[in-house]
Amino acid sequence: LQDTVKLNNGVEMPWFGLGVYKAQEGEEVIQAVKAAIRAGYRSIDTAAAYNNEEGVGQAIREAMEENGLSRDQIFVTSKVWNNMQGYETTLEAFETSLKKLNLEYIDLFLVHWPVKDKYKETWRALEKVYKEGKVRAIGVSNFQIHHLEDLLADAEVVPTVNQVELHPQLTQKELLKFTKEKGIVLEAWSPLGQGNLLENETLVSIGKKYGKTAAQVILRWDLQVGVITIPKSVNEGRIKENADIYDFELSAEDIAAIDALNLNQRFGSDPDNFNF
Ligand code: A2P
Repeated sequence: LQDTVKLNNGVEMPWFGLGVYKAQEGEEVIQAVKAAIRAGYRSIDTAAAYNNEEGVGQAIREAMEENGLSRDQIFVTSKVWNNMQGYETTLEAFETSLKKLNLEYIDLFLVHWPVKDKYKETWRALEKVYKEGKVRAIGVSNFQIHHLEDLLADAEVVPTVNQVELHPQLTQKELLKFTKEKGIVLEAWSPLGQGNLLENETLVSIGKKYGKTAAQVILRWDLQVGVITIPKSVNEGRIKENADIYDFELSAEDIAAIDALNLNQRFGSDPDNFNF
């Protein structure tokens, strides 16, 4: 769980973490984050749009105290929402996230979606806060190859990560290859396909060989193909289950069988065609 990947700026980020999209502000998100940290999670992924940064921050502060952890042992990601994209508004959004989280700093700050005609200005703002040392790393989310090519043409700082929808029915192999070549780590949101893939026969039968669930098989596959993964759960049992993936290894045949489930199927929005 504390296994990390070295990002292109030298910062270490855990391969595994908790996603809190749709975890409700207040008790629900606080309990989820605290359960996760108790279970050994060291990375939490939130966003301004999730409306739960205050609870996330509170839970992290309480969990650090209760588990004797220091701030540098936890990795916190947040993101600027679409309605705040643009240079000045992004600077503002960054300060708002920092204030809501009420932590000394944010580890990773992302451009949440490639809002047309805006994401380059948004990126310039992230470069500024990064150069000022206000955030340890910056990156993007939901960027396709063409968005990255466009961004990289002018960027002074190469994004450290690109967080995208990625699961066995949307394996993102081309994007994975492209980002690897550019030194960008791919990160999976909705790794469990929002819970839709857990009855899949291939995944269930692979799991049976190892005494693991379909969820655990998917998350182990993420690690073995070199993708950061942040499954969402607000249930303590499932939070623990999702993290229990460090005592088995999928074979090359298993990996190939999972890769073959790809349908290029999204459960979430299409980055080339979204309205928010
Ligand atoms: P819950 O929060 O009640 O556990 P994804 O990360 O792909 O978006 O998937 C999240 C969805 O899957 C949530 O609805 C979550 O519900 C559910 N979920 C997370 N982990 C598991 C698991 N191990 N088994 C079954 N459902 C899960």
